[in-house]
Amino acid sequence: MRAVVYAGDGTVRVDDIPEPEITEVGDVIVEVRKTAICGSDLHLLDGKTPGMRPGGVIGHEFIGKVAELGANVFKHHQDTRVLGSFLISCGACRHCIARRFNFCTNRRALGLGTLTGDLDGAQAEYVRVPNADVNLRLLGGALSGLSDEEALFGGDILATGFYAASLSEIKRDDVVVVIGAGPVGLFCAAAAGRFSPSKVLLLDQDPARVAFAREQMGLDAIDVSSSDAQAEVAAATEGTMADVAMDAVGSVIAVKDAMKCVRDGGRVTVVGVYGAERYELPMGVAWVRGIDLRFSGMANVHAHWDDALLAVAKGDLDPTKAITHRLSLDQAEEGYALFRAREAMKVVLTP
Ligand SMILES: NC(=O)c1ccc[n+]([C@@H]2O[C@H](COP(=O)([O-])OP(=O)(O)OC[C@H]3O[C@@H](n4cnc5c(N)ncnc54)[C@H](O)[C@@H]3O)[C@@H](O)[C@H]2O)c1
Ligand SMILES: [Zn+2]
Ligand SMILES: [Zn+2]
Repeated sequence: MRAVVYAGDGTVRVDDIPEPEITEVGDVIVEVRKTAICGSDLHLLDGKTPGMRPGGVIGHEFIGKVAELGANVFKHHQDTRVLGSFLISCGACRHCIARRFNFCTNRRALGLGTLTGDLDGAQAEYVRVPNADVNLRLLGGALSGLSDEEALFGGDILATGFYAASLSEIKRDDVVVVIGAGPVGLFCAAAAGRFSPSKVLLLDQDPARVAFAREQMGLDAIDVSSSDAQAEVAAATEGTMADVAMDAVGSVIAVKDAMKCVRDGGRVTVVGVYGAERYELPMGVAWVRGIDLRFSGMANVHAHWDDALLAVAKGDLDPTKAITHRLSLDQAEEGYALFRAREAMKVVLTP
């Protein structure tokens, strides 16, 4: 089958590799219909999140059709349409029972390297999904009308946005700042908007991303390429600052900016992914200001994908607006180049 594999030195290659086989009784092999490129894929190539094995298949956003079932799969059937979660949980440990799937004691992730189980990813014609009863969402009932593209992001960035907004405990009339207007930032902002805040301000230092957020997504976006995040938020709030700020970048600068953008007693939610970065926190300042600093960990996909998909099914938001490029899987290298250069927002690949 054709698959996007890590080719070493920060590059990917589309290659012919053997099709995956059932290796655990809870596995399903999914025939992938659509898959997408995520900011987390770039972290793998850049070595920010280490452990991608040359030859390993990348990719963790996908939708497809059940092609083969392990002996202990009960919720899925041949040929049904399913959405995959990037996060692979066991469904049975104490965290999963408490719906903290992202802290599953056996958590793994698809296509994200050896530190998360070395599972082959979904930018391929077929992908093996362990514990499929837990980690695949049947697109039936109220979700059956969703198109593949409408549902595609429900297993990663859309659910991440809903999780981040929930974790941020946004209250009516709050001012919310989201730093980073990449795909994750767009969905964090859209999900935040569902809690009736007075404002959601999306900040990015790339003017093209700011323009996209405004024009395509109808969001209130601010260009901070030549200005200061704190000053922009102060100006937009008459100095009262934000109640909540989210880092949807994954850089220490963004976390520092988020802390400067919230009022005293405000909350900062760190959604962006981190590897070996270090940050010296001025404890006295954080203490006296009462900053509530929360790290998301991997998104709790399974606890939020139903809400996210139902919102799409009801027409409350249209995630397909984030798709700027539709390419074949064989054009993946071009897709990665476009996404890295931020010429693309979301690249969808069809095997
Ligand atoms: N917690 C999770 O489970 C989870 C899930 C999915 C993605 N992520 C992470 O979310 C982050 C964003 O993902 P994405 O796909 O949107 O990535 P992306 O790289 O496309 O977007 C990041 C955006 O941040 C902007 N940016 C960079 N530095 C900035 C700064 N100092 N101030 C303002 N804007 C700045 C960039 O211009 C870009 O538009 C990544 O770190 C990704 O790994 C986390
Ligand atoms: Zn992702
Ligand atoms: Zn578990």
